[in-house]
Amino acid sequence: MKHFLQLRDFSRDEIEHLFKRTRVIKDRFKNYIAYQPLVDRMLAMVFEKSSTRTRVSFEAGMFQMGGASIVLNMGDTQLGRGEPIEDVARVVSRMVDIVMIRTFEQTIIERFAAHSRVPVINGLTNEYHPCQILADIYTFVEHRGSITGRTVAWIGDSNNMCNTWLQAARILDFKLNIASPPGYELEPARASGVDRAHLELFSDPLAASKGADLVTTDVWTSMGFEAETDDRKSAFAAFMVDAEMMAVARPDALFMHCLPAHRGEEVSADVLEGPQSVVWEEAENRLHVQKALMEYLLLGKVDT
Ligand code: CP
Ligand code: NVA
Repeated sequence: MKHFLQLRDFSRDEIEHLFKRTRVIKDRFKNYIAYQPLVDRMLAMVFEKSSTRTRVSFEAGMFQMGGASIVLNMGDTQLGRGEPIEDVARVVSRMVDIVMIRTFEQTIIERFAAHSRVPVINGLTNEYHPCQILADIYTFVEHRGSITGRTVAWIGDSNNMCNTWLQAARILDFKLNIASPPGYELEPARASGVDRAHLELFSDPLAASKGADLVTTDVWTSMGFEAETDDRKSAFAAFMVDAEMMAVARPDALFMHCLPAHRGEEVSADVLEGPQSVVWEEAENRLHVQKALMEYLLLGKVDT
C-alpha cells in the first residue's frame, strides 16, 4: 500500500505514469466516454482548513470514476472535539477505501497514515501541497512539453507550494529560482545539499524571473498564518508578479497560481487575466491528475 504524503513519495517513473494516465482519463472525460474503474469505492476527505478546488475536484473525480465520497469537516466531527487523529485513522480506514486530508502540520498526516489501512493523500499541509504541484507540472507539460531542463521562478513566500516545487525540481530535474523577502526565505535545511542546477535563491524577484519558462506565486499569507497578515503585506509589497516581472521572463513564459488569488497583492489583475496565465487550466487539471492519482493508489499501474 502506498500513500501520497509528499511529492517525493513518488519516483520520476511514477509521476510520468500519472501524467500518462491523466492524459487518457482527461481525453475520455472530454469526449464524454465514461470511465468507472472505482465502482463501490469510497473516498473520505478530512478538512481541517477551508477548500474550494480540492473538495470539488476530489468529489467530482471520485464520482466520475464510479465511486463516492464523504466530507468530514473539522467542526462537525469528533476530531474537532479532541478525538486523537490515530483513532480517527483506525476507524475511518476500516470503512472507506482511500482518504484525503487537508490539515496543519505534516506530522498530523503522517500520524494518520501510520494508523491507516488504506492509502492517504495529502490535500495540503503547512509544509506541502503535492496534488497542486502535480496539476501545475501537468499543465506546463500540456502547454510546453517536458519540464526537465526548464527554469521555474517562484516569487514570494517559501510556503507549502514552494517546498513542493523544490521536491519536484529534484525529482524531475529542472531549476527552481526562489525569490522571497527577508524573514520569509526558504528554510536552510530544505536548501542544504541541493545543487545549483536545481535551486538558486534570490532576494530580487526580477532577477529570479529573468529567463524563466514559468513564473508562479501564491498568497502572501497561507491558511493558518492569518495573524501575520499585516506584517506580511508590508514585507511582500515588492513581490507582486506584474507585467514588468513577466517581461524579463522568456517571451513564451507561462504564469501559474494555485488560487485563490488576490489581485493587486501577489499578482496584478492584468497578469492573472493575461495571455500568459494558465491558472484556469491549472485548476481544472486538479480534477484530471487526482483521478489518475486515485486510480494508481487503488489499482496500481493500470494500462487500459
Ligand atoms: N489550490 C487549492 O488547493 O485550492 P482550494 O484551497 O480551494 O482547495
Ligand atoms: N499556500 C496556500 C495555498 C492555498 C491553496 C495556503 O496554504 O493557504
